[in-house]
Amino acid sequence: MTVNRFEDKVVVITGAAKGIGRATAQLFAEEGARLVLGDLDSEALDDLCDALRSEGCEVVGVAGDVAEESCVAETFRRGLAEFGRIDVLVANAGVIVPGGILDLEVADWDRIMNIDARGMFLSCQYAVRAMSAGAGGSIVCLSSISGVAGQSRQAAYGPAKFVASGLTKHLAVEWANHGIRVNAVAPGTIATEAVLALPDNYVEPLRQAHPVQRLGEPREVAEAIAFLASDQASFITGVVLPVDGGYLAQ
Ligand SMILES: NC(=O)c1ccc[n+]([C@@H]2O[C@H](COP(=O)([O-])OP(=O)(O)OC[C@H]3O[C@@H](n4cnc5c(N)ncnc54)[C@H](O)[C@@H]3O)[C@@H](O)[C@H]2O)c1
Repeated sequence: MTVNRFEDKVVVITGAAKGIGRATAQLFAEEGARLVLGDLDSEALDDLCDALRSEGCEVVGVAGDVAEESCVAETFRRGLAEFGRIDVLVANAGVIVPGGILDLEVADWDRIMNIDARGMFLSCQYAVRAMSAGAGGSIVCLSSISGVAGQSRQAAYGPAKFVASGLTKHLAVEWANHGIRVNAVAPGTIATEAVLALPDNYVEPLRQAHPVQRLGEPREVAEAIAFLASDQASFITGVVLPVDGGYLAQ
């Protein structure tokens, strides 16, 4: 049975062209959403938009860098111009750059913080502006197990994901009585393009560190995002939900 939790809802997804973002766009499209999709990779974004349109989904694609305010502004401007409102933001765009503090340069820190933290702040800011001027809405940020607990070789990516967890909790409290819910998912290691490109000797120990002894699938994260974004989660805000095969339970 198909559920249509997002019939006519307008959903913005950043970093939508691959991995978790792409699986999330597909799931929302299946459930009737109208989509505003952003990504740096314009070719992959165009391919996704074409595929979704051929399935009957109304979709706007905006290529650009989520760390640039002009790109985020344009994403929301196009969404509002096309569909008149924004109901859901999935703040997903991010780069995964493992490395200990002695391996990384300050330029790595700046790049990761610009995309993963600044880009998420900007996306949330524009979403809250649009939602608070309308009928409220729901935001889901992509945190991580590294945004909840310490890990080795995550000296910049991990702190960037703590920004995602922190932004979620602070915005949830500030905007709860304006009809805006803000939650996050904290995925374990998921078999996306970003992770499959990392060396085996990095990924294999991580796989073994998950009690379920496997990597997660992008669709498994998308299902949790869709639940938090939906009216089924109407009394849930400020939560950082692990989607991690038991990793954080240890
Ligand atoms: N895969 C995992 O194991 C995992 C675990 C926890 C959290 N996450 C988080 O989930 C999110 C998605 O990760 P993924 O594994 O699907 O990655 P991915 O690389 O497979 O997909 C990320 C997408 O974001 C886009 N992107 C990268 N930089 C961008 C920028 N500056 N502006 C706009 N778009 C940009 C990429 O082009 C790509 O399409 C990230 O925030 C990541 O931190 C992933």
